[in-house]
Amino acid sequence: MSDYDLVIRGGTVVTAADTVRADVGIRAGKIVAVADKIEGGAKVIDASGLLVMPGGIDSHVHLAQPAFGGPKMADGFETGTRSAIAGGNTTVLPFALQPRGASLRASVTDYHREADGQSYCDYGFHLIISDPSPSVLGQELPALVGDGYTSFKVFMTYDDLVLNDRQLLEVFDCARGCGALVMVHCEGYDSIKFMTERLEAAGKTAPYYHAVSRPQVVEREATHRAISHGELIDVPIMIVHVSGREPMEQIRWAQQKGLKVYGETCTQYISLTADDLKGLNMDETGGKYVCSPPPRDHASWEAIWEGIRGGVFQTFSSDHCPFFYEGSEGKLNPKARTSFKWVPNGIPGVEVRLPILWSKGVGEGRITPNEFVALTSTNHAKIYGLYPEKGSIGVGFDADIVLWDPNRKETIRQELMHHGSDYTPFEGIAVTGWPVMTILRGAVVAEEGRILGTKADGKFLKRGLSPYAVPTGRTYL
Ligand code: URP
Ligand code: ZN
Ligand code: ZN
Ligand code: ZN
Repeated sequence: MSDYDLVIRGGTVVTAADTVRADVGIRAGKIVAVADKIEGGAKVIDASGLLVMPGGIDSHVHLAQPAFGGPKMADGFETGTRSAIAGGNTTVLPFALQPRGASLRASVTDYHREADGQSYCDYGFHLIISDPSPSVLGQELPALVGDGYTSFKVFMTYDDLVLNDRQLLEVFDCARGCGALVMVHCEGYDSIKFMTERLEAAGKTAPYYHAVSRPQVVEREATHRAISHGELIDVPIMIVHVSGREPMEQIRWAQQKGLKVYGETCTQYISLTADDLKGLNMDETGGKYVCSPPPRDHASWEAIWEGIRGGVFQTFSSDHCPFFYEGSEGKLNPKARTSFKWVPNGIPGVEVRLPILWSKGVGEGRITPNEFVALTSTNHAKIYGLYPEKGSIGVGFDADIVLWDPNRKETIRQELMHHGSDYTPFEGIAVTGWPVMTILRGAVVAEEGRILGTKADGKFLKRGLSPYAVPTGRTYL
């Protein structure tokens, strides 16, 4: 009998800290050895010429979220996590959403019904709080945090989700008490509503005007407001899906003041622009790219890189939020053709996050392979209470691994994708660097675009408290 169930031999191990030529020995789903030469192994994978990196952790994906009367999402757990593993990911953190008036606990129970037994990779839940009632804040959230749902998301826009300033403060205060990390969607509701009404009155209803209705100043204002509320309460916050210079500079300013403000950016903010929303000629095809915040422009890409290089952003996520393009339930549903405001917000991208960041980041000399690993895996594990089980390659970690070919050239195309959506907004983007094998707790679950795992493979992750969520210690009362 061999000491190891699996040995990955001949590769170069890349972690957030180091790059070393080493073999990796795996037993019972865990990494038990990383060494110059490991003999034996019931199964051996030859990784020569490949990089051996921690599997991607995408801490911002939306799967099977309730539709509020709008179009249904194109991915539940089955197709969404299938897409995730094909793209080199081994863990996703989607959102259990509390509809207004509903109990959060009941929403979490419902969401487990969507997820359990339906996931190709491991998963945990963030909690979207749309109705911070006294019972939610006083009883439900503290209990849920204890059960491993240790991060919340709150919204400063969207009719069905927006919290006012008082409610934001209440949630922040609750999070401080529970030790939870709050993710904030920073776009100002009233500004967007105002702009939308004015644009519609002027007949400017094409998908492109989605971007015009929520310019960077709207994101900057909300970012500053969230930071100020977090400072008042002395609670750490994560500003998610940052799109450009204006909000990035607010986060940098807060960090330079010593506030515990973290930043996340996403694939679309280094690879798409608002011009994509113009479609072929200011037509509905631009609806394919509608997400919030909208992608900006090339100068914004550079600002995002400045934030990545400068450490303003700790995580790089997909904000995978897929809808169909065609059909009565799609981005171009009949109502959506009457105004951009009815185009469902969100785009699929969990499968292309790693290749696009690698290609534009490492391939074009903007970040190191180690920074890539930090941005796509390690920091997600550390920030969301999954470390040191997930997020690195070392003795004791789960054997969640992606074998990466840094030289492989591909062009992103819908035919390559494993998601449920009928299009990819990243169609035609040429990349160098591609996942050739994904290993989940020691089992090969995807290889060369073929799915080898099953939807019973993924396990629910009861997460610990985030060390990043610890207040500075200043008493605010
Ligand atoms: O447009 C987007 N990104 N929709 C998803 C929900 C969110 O705000 O992250
Ligand atoms: Zn959001
Ligand atoms: Zn979003
Ligand atoms: Zn999102």
